[in-house]
Amino acid sequence: MKHNKIVMTFFICISTSLNLKAQKPAVELSVETKIEALIKKMTLEEKVYMIHANSSFTSGGVKRLGIPELVTSDGPHGVRPEFGRDWNLDNNSLDSGTYLPTGICLAATWNSELGYAFGSVLGSEANYRGKDIILGPGINIIRSPLNGRNFEYQSEDPFLVSKMAVGYIKGVQSQGVSACVKHFIANNQETKRTSIDVQMSDRAMREIYLPGFKAAVQLGGVNTVMGSYNKFRGQWASENNFLLTQILKKEWGFKGMVMSDWDAVHSTVQALWSGLDLEMGTDLHMLPNPDYSKFFMADSVLKLVKAGKIPEYIIDEKIRRKLYIMFKTNMIDGKRIKGQYNTPAHQKTALQVASEGIVLLKNRDKILPINKTETRKIAVIGYNADRKQSMGGGSSQVRAFYEITALQGIRNIAGKTEIVYAPGYEIKRDAKANPELIKNAVSIAAAADMVIYVGGSTHGYDYSVWSDNAYDAEDTDKPDMNLPFGQDELIMALVKANPKLVVVLMGGGALDMNKWLDETPAVIQSWYPGMEGGNALAKILFGELNPSGKLPVTFPNKLADHPSQQMGEYPGNLDKLTVHYYDDIYVGYRYYDTYNVQPQFAFGHGLSYTTFEYGNLKLIPTTDKVIVSFTIKNTGDKAGAEVAQLYIKPGTSLLPRPEKELKEFTKIFLQPGESKTVSFTLNKDAFMYYNDVLHAWVMDKINYDILVGSTSRDIRISGKIKM
Ligand code: GLC
Repeated sequence: MKHNKIVMTFFICISTSLNLKAQKPAVELSVETKIEALIKKMTLEEKVYMIHANSSFTSGGVKRLGIPELVTSDGPHGVRPEFGRDWNLDNNSLDSGTYLPTGICLAATWNSELGYAFGSVLGSEANYRGKDIILGPGINIIRSPLNGRNFEYQSEDPFLVSKMAVGYIKGVQSQGVSACVKHFIANNQETKRTSIDVQMSDRAMREIYLPGFKAAVQLGGVNTVMGSYNKFRGQWASENNFLLTQILKKEWGFKGMVMSDWDAVHSTVQALWSGLDLEMGTDLHMLPNPDYSKFFMADSVLKLVKAGKIPEYIIDEKIRRKLYIMFKTNMIDGKRIKGQYNTPAHQKTALQVASEGIVLLKNRDKILPINKTETRKIAVIGYNADRKQSMGGGSSQVRAFYEITALQGIRNIAGKTEIVYAPGYEIKRDAKANPELIKNAVSIAAAADMVIYVGGSTHGYDYSVWSDNAYDAEDTDKPDMNLPFGQDELIMALVKANPKLVVVLMGGGALDMNKWLDETPAVIQSWYPGMEGGNALAKILFGELNPSGKLPVTFPNKLADHPSQQMGEYPGNLDKLTVHYYDDIYVGYRYYDTYNVQPQFAFGHGLSYTTFEYGNLKLIPTTDKVIVSFTIKNTGDKAGAEVAQLYIKPGTSLLPRPEKELKEFTKIFLQPGESKTVSFTLNKDAFMYYNDVLHAWVMDKINYDILVGSTSRDIRISGKIKM
């Protein structure tokens, strides 16, 4: 018996160990293998169902294979309010979220770490709200001050755009969801945006309009790209082989997914072959019962494949990319990290971005910061001082959890100083100066120690009126650079009544200030500074914060001076529906500095309550790079941050080049008297330009000036090197 027991035990041990071997954990299959296995199991109908929208913001999945719908949401500075699947704003959802400052305010911080923080908030809130893709950042180059969506975008300079977009994208995707860089490419105006054909040179494309997207793909690792509405060189951008396949996928190695802008697809065969992976949009004309099977990349694809006119591998490639980002964002294995919503930390980031993005443009006689103890009464004037902006602008609208207006922010901090308010003007379509409102505003201004005026542009208020009285909104461009609603008359009356006037302008960019700027001692650009914008502005006005924002766009003296007006076409020939970018590579300061035109305020301009001194420039050239180092000292009596900008100025090049180009920048914080050494490494590509005769990036072996300064026109130290 005993013997049997031993034998039995022996066999149990052997079989267990064999069993264990048999249960050896399955080798973890690669994502690529999992994707191919899924594609093999899918029917053609299921594949086609995945490559087009199946509701306002979703596209199809395959339930039986565990492939969920893909859920997208706007927008670039906050998660948009919930829409029903049929585009009805669902006003009952708990969808009030963190309303971050808009893109141009983020860019005005010149702080790429803040870009990451901004993206992290946005991605976390999108994740919490059940979104797989947040449709941002919008990074189209700001070519004209009239573009209605400049507030959503970043800059006139491709290097600044690249640095801010990469941080933003990494932040969003660190939260387990996808970013979607848009609009690829040349959506630089809203006038006829869904029909205009953009014509530009290879140099303008390579040196100005592509770099931000290239950085988003190659440095930011962006998961998705949104094609734009317009045509590019005669072909719709969202079904454009050259852009989507040649450049994006082949040249840049983009592995993610390309979606169209909403209703931006115009064909089936062209779209299928172009490299477009997903047709988004809603046939609004089919509302309230949209039939998504009628989409270009829907039933008609089935017919073409079944008739052998389109090879199925074309569809498989689209599915492959869509599944790739779905695996990358744990949509299939369900292991996505949790999102957060409306947290104090998110609101703190909103405050930080506003605090660092608001720009002090002028401060004559140091009228700012306001000394509370010496200021008994302040008159706050201007409709924008107490207007909530978050729901404006179009698709980028956000139902803010709360929004501190300038008036509220000032009241929060004013202490014993009395604050009185008058709107001074009204916001409605084509409103002119209102004598009654001006009279009332002037009377309280005259009786105050100081006047803070808050005006500027505005947003169409909400989805229903988004193009109504909109001066910063999607689908509409500004008519001109004039302050709307008769504000010039109001400001001129105010500065007569009380010369201690601070003008705060909100909006997406430059406005014409000529009628009152000389008489006005202080001017601040506050963009659309998000839910904490009023607090940030007030902290700057009263000196609790030292302003550090810098203009990411040139503010022209007048619209006619701008290169898109001087050299280019804007908005183009609307009969022929073409716009030629004859301003070419001379966008923004590249034009003003090359053609010696004085701007109102230069690219990179922004004052501080302290002063900075630059020195000890060292240029150490090596075989293929240049090490640049210099010191910056805070020579004032307040702590503050300076954005040191480095430009290269080439000698006589083979082809014409701009007078200078931004190639590095950094934002450093210094205590009074503190000095820090900054060092940059300029690689060869910092000196290169696109030779459109050779169709290649080249570097001329010539002398280059290295310019380091506080703005593009305030160069403090410089040196020469020969490359
Ligand atoms: C809009 C915009 C795009 C937005 C999309 C979805 O037309 O151009 O930026 O993400 O449609 O709302």
